[in-house]
Amino acid sequence: MLAVVRAIARPTLAHMPSPHTDDALRAMVESRLARAIDSHIAVPRLAEACRYAVLGGGKRIRPLITMRCCEACGGDVSRALDGACAVELVHAFSLAHDDLPALDNDDVRRGRPTLHRAFPESLAILAGDALFAAALAVAMDDPHHGPALCAEVVGASLAMIDGQVMDTLPEARDDSIDPAALVEQIHSRKTGALIAASARMGAVCADVGPEDAKAIASWGTAIGLMFQIVDDWIDATQPASRAGKATGKDQAAGKSTWVGTLGVAGAVAHVDRLAREANAALHGLGDGAANLRRMTSELAGRRH
Ligand code: IPE
Ligand code: IPE
Ligand code: MG
Ligand code: MG
Ligand code: MG
Repeated sequence: MLAVVRAIARPTLAHMPSPHTDDALRAMVESRLARAIDSHIAVPRLAEACRYAVLGGGKRIRPLITMRCCEACGGDVSRALDGACAVELVHAFSLAHDDLPALDNDDVRRGRPTLHRAFPESLAILAGDALFAAALAVAMDDPHHGPALCAEVVGASLAMIDGQVMDTLPEARDDSIDPAALVEQIHSRKTGALIAASARMGAVCADVGPEDAKAIASWGTAIGLMFQIVDDWIDATQPASRAGKATGKDQAAGKSTWVGTLGVAGAVAHVDRLAREANAALHGLGDGAANLRRMTSELAGRRH
């Protein structure tokens, strides 16, 4: 009943199609990211490595989530741009380090040499460090929500690093728990936390009330876990040429994955369950969340 009242109370949102295409949002993100590197990274060689790690590739899923969540909560997408780019800088940092020889030892990312293959390994490590600090600087550039966005970025980054440690070092895992619970713990930390924070940051930028904030947080949590399960599915089933990165590596590397734990069919079934759970959380947001529902199905069905 409450949901019905709220939907009626927002007729403008319900019938107003977004004026922004995803490509238009990606273009805004691209230029804001370039400006962030120019203004926050001083040494030209380091800026060059950071530009390589951040620009000209990547689906920009996390910034799109932040901006679309802001929109779904009644805010203009531009209000969420700094937060959106802060999240993407953390993501770029996580990929730079994830690909290093000491972690996943990958040579290809986004269809081209990984950062440490294109630049000296020392510079790849330091560029990752710089991107994390730049993410905080960009979050603080938001004049209205800087501290709240920073708190989200820090919390999600710590969770991401926790998850990466568990993913990389078997001795860091709690093997006494059920394998499915363990893989969920790793996934929700290494990937889910940053995606869930991306969603919540969009709601923060829209100055949303507690009920809508809760809906967005639930959507983000379900989508975040789903994203890594699909990534595992891509590793197990898709060619490297489509993925833009090496595939077929998780099993050989002894990674704890959904596909490894429940099989391909089990992973697909769990993706479907999480997609339904994600969309159910959006019920109270009415038609204003149409783009989020579209993202749910696009992310559940992605192939790269
Ligand atoms: C890959 O993320 C790493 C994971 C956390 C699964 P994306 O699939 O979003 O990578 P890009 O940014 O589009 O390259
Ligand atoms: C990456 O997970 C999670 C991060 C925090 C970067 P993966 O190691 O599975 O990501 P890909 O497959 O290399 O993109
Ligand atoms: Mg990894
Ligand atoms: Mg990897
Ligand atoms: Mg992977």
